[in-house]
Amino acid sequence: KHWKGFRDLSLGPDTAPHRCHIKKGFILLLTFAFLLTAVAYLSELSLKIAVLPDTLYEKVIRSYYVVIGYPSPSENQTIFLAPNRVQQSPTQVPTQTTDISVHHHVAHPSNYHFILDEPDKCSQWDPFLVLMVPVAPQQVDARNAIRSTWGNESSVQGKAVLTLFLVGLTRGPEAQQQLEEESRQHRDLVQSNFVDSYFNLTIKTMVIMDWLATRCPQASYAMKVDSDMYIGLENLMSLLLAPNTPRQNYITGYLMWNRPVVRNKNSKWYVSEELYPEPKYPTYLLGMGYVFSNDLPEKIVETSKKVNAFNIEDAYVGACLKQLGVAPSSPPNPSQFRAYLGRYKREDFLRVITTILGSPQQLIDIWKDVKRPT
Ligand SMILES: *[C@@H]1O[C@H](CO)[C@@H](O)[C@H](O)[C@H]1NC(C)=O
Ligand SMILES: *[C@@H]1O[C@H](CO)[C@@H](O)[C@H](O)[C@H]1NC(C)=O
Ligand SMILES: *[C@@H]1O[C@H](CO)[C@@H](O)[C@H](O)[C@H]1NC(C)=O
Repeated sequence: KHWKGFRDLSLGPDTAPHRCHIKKGFILLLTFAFLLTAVAYLSELSLKIAVLPDTLYEKVIRSYYVVIGYPSPSENQTIFLAPNRVQQSPTQVPTQTTDISVHHHVAHPSNYHFILDEPDKCSQWDPFLVLMVPVAPQQVDARNAIRSTWGNESSVQGKAVLTLFLVGLTRGPEAQQQLEEESRQHRDLVQSNFVDSYFNLTIKTMVIMDWLATRCPQASYAMKVDSDMYIGLENLMSLLLAPNTPRQNYITGYLMWNRPVVRNKNSKWYVSEELYPEPKYPTYLLGMGYVFSNDLPEKIVETSKKVNAFNIEDAYVGACLKQLGVAPSSPPNPSQFRAYLGRYKREDFLRVITTILGSPQQLIDIWKDVKRPT
């Protein structure tokens, strides 16, 4: 409405030629200033980093553990104790390192099966690096943004790269049909039969590890990367091809040291003492994106039988690594694994391997700008 009014005003001089020059000049000046502001605003808006509050909570704030009560109450943690949730009381649950029957282990992938699978993708593609993206079934926009940006890079520095998405169950037959159509079109979806929820991210990650171990053992490296990430594939490849990068028992990313377990029941990251008795987590890598040599998935799946599951996916992988005796490595240049870059600057994005974005559209806009020839 304001806009229209303004236009009428700027047309004023034509319809009333006898108006005084001062007024005309003033209106012209005003129009000019307005246009200038509009151009500046629009060009900046399209690239402005505006990380959503939820993303901030999940990724950045968590990385510093400024944990404020989360609005939604934590979910019933007993589900991680055993699949026969109701029968077994928490006190009967074996402690951290005793061998648990896999059937009583809710996060062990042997309790799940694939509904959609790409079993031959790796033998056809022979990838050096596989990017595995956990994503909710309904997040088509996130998948499409990735497909048109870093997920569409099939070869980086001469090495084959493959990107696949991992989803849980859809919410109904109609959503399932849509997902299957998407799968036929893109051949990049893997679906497993657990309820897809934030709380079940540990299950999702272990299913990713299982897929890598059983469907893609020939790859040299893999990365678990969230769907709201920018990935600097050139920089990642340079890291992996560097002569000092180990080819086995190697995992790197944004290191988390000495993180206290959240015992505030109102927090999204609450973990009960039954599930994880120690006050601090072992060193782990922030879940937004961690890279590992592809011998690790099989080892992690195997060792996870001995590590009680809990709902913090990245810390759980850390617990499995500790059990394996594999220490997470600090990246050669730790500033390349960023959680948050702030206001968009092309130079920053040219340097990093990971950073969290605010929306799928932002990924598309930033990718276009980063890739433009200079
Ligand atoms: C959690 O679930 C278990 C088993 O389903 C139930 O016995 C228990 O009362 C629940 N606890 C809460 C706090 O809802
Ligand atoms: C992926 O890149 C190719 C060119 O390398 C292009 O033709 C294709 O349209 C891209 N796909 C998407 C989904 O953007
Ligand atoms: C996954 O999460 C939901 C709620 O967040 C829960 O009801 C369900 O039992 C969980 N586990 C599996 C294996 O789907």
